[in-house]
Amino acid sequence: MAKRKLKRVDLIFSKDCSCRDILAAGLQKPREEIIQTLIASGLKGRGGAGFPTGLKWKMAANEKSNKKYVICNADEGEPGTFKDREILDREPLKVLGGMALCAYVTGAREGFVYLRHEYRFLIPKLEKVLDTFHKWMEELNLDFNVKLFIGAGAYVCGEETSLIESMEGKRGEPRNKPPYPTNEGYLGKPTVVNNVETFVYTMMILRIGAEEFKAMGIEGSSGSKLFSVSGDTPKAGIYELELGMTLDEFVKEFGDGDAKAVQVGGASGFCVPRKRFAETHIGYQGGLTGFSLPTGGSMMIFNSSRSMYNVLHNYLEFFEEESCGQCTPCRVGCQQLLKGIEAVKRGEKSQKYLNDLLRLADTMKITAKCGLGQSVGNSFSSIVENFREEMIY
Ligand SMILES: Cc1cc2nc3c(=O)[nH]c(=O)nc-3n(C[C@H](O)[C@H](O)[C@H](O)COP(=O)(O)O)c2cc1C
Ligand code: SF4
Repeated sequence: MAKRKLKRVDLIFSKDCSCRDILAAGLQKPREEIIQTLIASGLKGRGGAGFPTGLKWKMAANEKSNKKYVICNADEGEPGTFKDREILDREPLKVLGGMALCAYVTGAREGFVYLRHEYRFLIPKLEKVLDTFHKWMEELNLDFNVKLFIGAGAYVCGEETSLIESMEGKRGEPRNKPPYPTNEGYLGKPTVVNNVETFVYTMMILRIGAEEFKAMGIEGSSGSKLFSVSGDTPKAGIYELELGMTLDEFVKEFGDGDAKAVQVGGASGFCVPRKRFAETHIGYQGGLTGFSLPTGGSMMIFNSSRSMYNVLHNYLEFFEEESCGQCTPCRVGCQQLLKGIEAVKRGEKSQKYLNDLLRLADTMKITAKCGLGQSVGNSFSSIVENFREEMIY
């Protein structure tokens, strides 16, 4: 499978562009042309699931409805992810610009930035920026108004349908899908929910063109992405890199020389051991089981001083706390996985019991209602299978 050399990119935070000019030029283009440009660019959502952005906008644009909405998902609750905070702090107008493009393309007149509860410190800044943005909307003759909505601190509310439920004043719990938000979203109306970073890339693609964007990355995983690098690294921080790099290259650049594992995609992602670094690269096309791993941005490096039991225990405590409890596989499964590894570690259960727990994790992957419960099994299986000796008494 094609790979790319690790390469730094400067699109998201680049200062050599005027957000207002990109928007003004974009609003002169036919709607279908913007959709086709996004589709041609190969841009996939940067919130983690990797759904093609142009297609999502097209689906909402095709809906016949008197009201439509655009929501920027700034809930950023995945452990190890902190790139959206930085974008909102440094480039809020690029985010709002992307939302305006989406509103223009889909016909939405109202938008919301769903801001993570813990990012309340950004409110005064964002309110000021919204004043500027709404002036632009008047000048550019686009009827689009954006408001802030502050989350209440639940991880599951980053999932788009829970987010919408909570905006409607209900408990933040996932809906059954279909219908998808592009058909029936906020208040039952067609709604585009995109990640903060995705909106910025739509602006950048209009600036540089689909070709240039697609020339970066690899087949099925175009362009660049922001990565939140943390853990055992002397270079913790945020980096924009081309998609398609191998983990080998990644740890050479960011590790401390002793990396034994990289957790790709946060607590709900995959743990890759050192022996797999060379064959694993970052991208979307391999799905969840191939050697191409998607990530919403979180890259946690663990060196040999780390107990992978402690890492897994920490993740399971998080999931047990954050499971919304709506479906049994996740509500009960998270508790059983946590209690199970504790029992094995204490020697109360034999190490064979880990096989039962792995089966439970597999069951959760296929029976849990939403991505939260489905993805608990990812980190569980990848840590237990690769670091089994660290799990036992
Ligand atoms: C438990 C859970 C938490 C999520 N948290 C976030 C989040 O904080 N931010 C985000 O953009 N997407 C999050 N997502 C993914 C969203 O449901 C949705 O796919 C995304 O916002 C769509 O935007 P994109 O296409 O631009 O990636 C989460 C999904 C799940 C299952
Ligand atoms: S998988 Fe977990 S978070 Fe999702 S609906 Fe079921 S209980 Fe709730």
